[in-house]
Amino acid sequence: MPHPWWKTSVVYQVYPRSFADSDGDGVGDLPGLLGRLDHIQALGADVVWVSPFYPSPQADNGYDVADYQDVDPLFGTLADVDRLIAALHERGMRLMIDIVVNHTSDAHPWFVESRGSSDNPRRDWYWWRPPRGGMALGDKGAEPTDWGSFFGGPTWEPDPASGEYYLHLFDRRQPDLNWENPQVRATIHEMLRWWLARGVDGFRFDVINLVSKTIHDDGTGIFVNGPRIHEFCRGMHEAAWGSDTLITVGECPGVSVEHARRYTDPAAREFDMVFQFEHMHVDHGPAGRFDVIPLDWVRMKQVLARWQDGLAEVGWNSLYWGNHDQPRPVSRYGDPAAYRVESAKALATVLHLQRGTPYVFQGEELGMGNYPFDSLDQLDDVESRNWAQAALAAGRAVDEVLAVVNARGRDHARTPMQWDASPQAGFTTGTPWLPVNPDHTLVNAAAQVGDPESVFAHYQSLIRLRRQFTVVVDGRFELLLPEHPSIVAFTRRLDDQALLVVANLSSEPADLHLPDAVTTEFADGPVLLGSGMPPAGPGRPAKRSRLAPWEAWVISRGMPR
Ligand code: NOJ
Repeated sequence: MPHPWWKTSVVYQVYPRSFADSDGDGVGDLPGLLGRLDHIQALGADVVWVSPFYPSPQADNGYDVADYQDVDPLFGTLADVDRLIAALHERGMRLMIDIVVNHTSDAHPWFVESRGSSDNPRRDWYWWRPPRGGMALGDKGAEPTDWGSFFGGPTWEPDPASGEYYLHLFDRRQPDLNWENPQVRATIHEMLRWWLARGVDGFRFDVINLVSKTIHDDGTGIFVNGPRIHEFCRGMHEAAWGSDTLITVGECPGVSVEHARRYTDPAAREFDMVFQFEHMHVDHGPAGRFDVIPLDWVRMKQVLARWQDGLAEVGWNSLYWGNHDQPRPVSRYGDPAAYRVESAKALATVLHLQRGTPYVFQGEELGMGNYPFDSLDQLDDVESRNWAQAALAAGRAVDEVLAVVNARGRDHARTPMQWDASPQAGFTTGTPWLPVNPDHTLVNAAAQVGDPESVFAHYQSLIRLRRQFTVVVDGRFELLLPEHPSIVAFTRRLDDQALLVVANLSSEPADLHLPDAVTTEFADGPVLLGSGMPPAGPGRPAKRSRLAPWEAWVISRGMPR
């Protein structure tokens, strides 16, 4: 069976607000993106995933959609999307759009109608419920369930006009659609077909495993992987793209490996891959993303290996260290102060050499780091702002709250893309909606593209390896040294081809003791890619017994194909 094309693809994620601004209003836009396709093509990525550009009040930066079939004037026009599709296709590249159908904006006409009166036909398109147990609207504990919103506070918003609550798993301006209603599902299917007819090549489905829910009168219920979730996902696949090959990825918070196998089993006809979160949670304490605990690489390796093994026979992995919801990987897992370039390269190496489809979030290919926020007033993100407000109200000190947000906030990923060293980093001629990171004078695309030692060049090499050698795409993964606190080492094997990947993910040197059989097997193999190695490192890498900080390399046994 030939591979579907997305198994050899590398996806580049664009957050359009922050990528490139063509008209000087300080907000990135589609014409801006069109003008920067050379950068993505030079990197070697072949799929561009663009975060939402639909009309939206921007309560959650576009993840609150007010019209699924148009473009917000902030970002451009439908004609710009058509131009983007044509320009990408001309280059042999593809477009993946972001589909946000667990919820709409409260400004979506469907919700305006739904809220308008209890007997409106669209009432049932959302989740309306009376207060629990005969209590009055707004009473403590009267919410239909006691679920907490992903963005803080309860998931139920009282609507005094009708005396009922509506459900919002995210912000109150993001009411949840009721997928139990067949018209809702049919309308979504039709909308997807409309985008496919325009020429898009794939979809990223926002929090798609939350769309099936049960809510009982006694206040119990579920909203993650609910009872009809597979029926809904398969139904959407069948109705919208059938047997066509797209690239589809379902964002699935709380998904287990076992469950992901079901979602990504080609025979189940749901999604090509999912975004799972287990590896994102390794440095989260019990209270979630703002509960900062140190990263334990032993635990991280267990998680990564479990996903590699779990989807080896059936299904497929997505591979990512960052996106628009996560802090910058080099700041979170690397050492941006002392070893920015080396740590960015080492992290990329261990990610891109795993089996799955890698995702590169804009700026990651430059080693862009977190923004040094010095005041809570600078925050834009609704999640960080809500959390900070609640933490302050609970009596935590401002400095402590700021430190947590500086470690974990979503705004870090959203500061403008750093194109060059000029005052607004080449992002805009106006005032950017979020400030440009002061390090852009050092960390920027103009300084890196064409420099063989740059982080950018390293990403290019990694992507080239994937294109050159089938073992990178398809080789079996085996973790080595599972107990080592900082070395990530693994092999990839396919027929008679084999790769050894070794990286020291630490700013301290580390002793390396590979199993003898591995050392022997790879002793004479060529180094396909290396970084952070001491210039005159003694001996061939596989025979080395000590690794420099953030040293990483890929060796093959013989010449791979
Ligand atoms: C996940 C998206 O990635 C995030 O940015 C958004 O806030 C939530 N889903 C709600 O749509």
